Amino acid sequence: MASNKFKFLFGLVLLLIGTASAQLSSNFYATTCPNALSIINKAVVSAVSKEARMGASLLRLHFHDCFVNGCDASILLDDTSNFTGEKTAGPNNNSVRGYEVIDTIKSQLESSCPGVVSCADIVAVAARDSTVALSGPSWTVLLGRRDSTTASLNTANSDIPSPLLNLSGLITAFSNKGFSAKEMVALSGSHTIGQARCTVFRTRIYNETDIDSNFAKSRQANCPSTSGSGDNNLAPLDTTSPTSFDNAYFKNLQSQKGLLHSDQQLFSGGSTDSQVNAYSTNAQTFKTDFANAMVKMGNLSPLTGSNGQIRKNCRKVN
Ligand code: HEM
Repeated sequence: MASNKFKFLFGLVLLLIGTASAQLSSNFYATTCPNALSIINKAVVSAVSKEARMGASLLRLHFHDCFVNGCDASILLDDTSNFTGEKTAGPNNNSVRGYEVIDTIKSQLESSCPGVVSCADIVAVAARDSTVALSGPSWTVLLGRRDSTTASLNTANSDIPSPLLNLSGLITAFSNKGFSAKEMVALSGSHTIGQARCTVFRTRIYNETDIDSNFAKSRQANCPSTSGSGDNNLAPLDTTSPTSFDNAYFKNLQSQKGLLHSDQQLFSGGSTDSQVNAYSTNAQTFKTDFANAMVKMGNLSPLTGSNGQIRKNCRKVN
């Protein structure tokens, strides 16, 4: 009897230790690198003031990191002769940007506090600071993630949602990572900033019917119908205010001006229409829900404790 009780308590203690070591905290670098957050913020503000789109790119970088085996900076690893990383996966190749900004921040942090701040935390903080720099909401970034020693091209291809997905596929892709349909809609609101390439919206602007015809025409002007021509020509994901983190994305969906097939799926007569309506009438609710969902995304399977490492160079395993 007593021994069972002991076993139970012992198990409970082990469980608590396990949970604690898998836990992030907002003051993780308070003593080991007190200037970490201000160094990151300064570099992000400077990069975004040089090119507003960089804010969008850095936000997306965090998403594409976290959806592939958690927020562990796996996306930053370059290919080597015996290792193919995530950079050349379909959703990332010629598309994900911001690697150089992360490199700059990492080298500044290595000068101030060598071997302390993880690349995964840099990406998480840069995503938050980018959102704020483009007038979006802020949130407290929990810290203490460690960096992976591997990356997965296959998981990047399978787990990052495709712009060709229908609503049910989008709901499944996010539910696989623990997100509700409502959180999926809120997170998609990040398409209120940034750009997309002709190759990912060509089919929509030439072949789909739930699209405003003037909007389709104006996008066709810079995105030829022939596959292979103008593939990299850019168009804003939010046609009205592409460098401002507002709720215009949802208003565009109501008027069938979503750029990607996946965008318009959120408002196409299905179960998420009401959420799009709610966010388009209330920007504050959108921003609050977005911020909460970003904290949740940032908590996706972090490596902590004795797992992972603090890379010296974000592109390479130590
Ligand atoms: C709902 C499923 C999603 C799909 C299918 C999707 C797909 C895409 C695609 C195809 C692009 C354009 C890429 C290119 O042409 O190079 C894009 C851009 C972007 N995505 Fe998403 N995305 C989704 C969700 C998200 C989420 C959750 C975030 C962030 C929290 C995000 C942030 C962004 C940003 C900011 C851009 C613009 C990047 C830039 O200008 O560099 N997306 N997305």
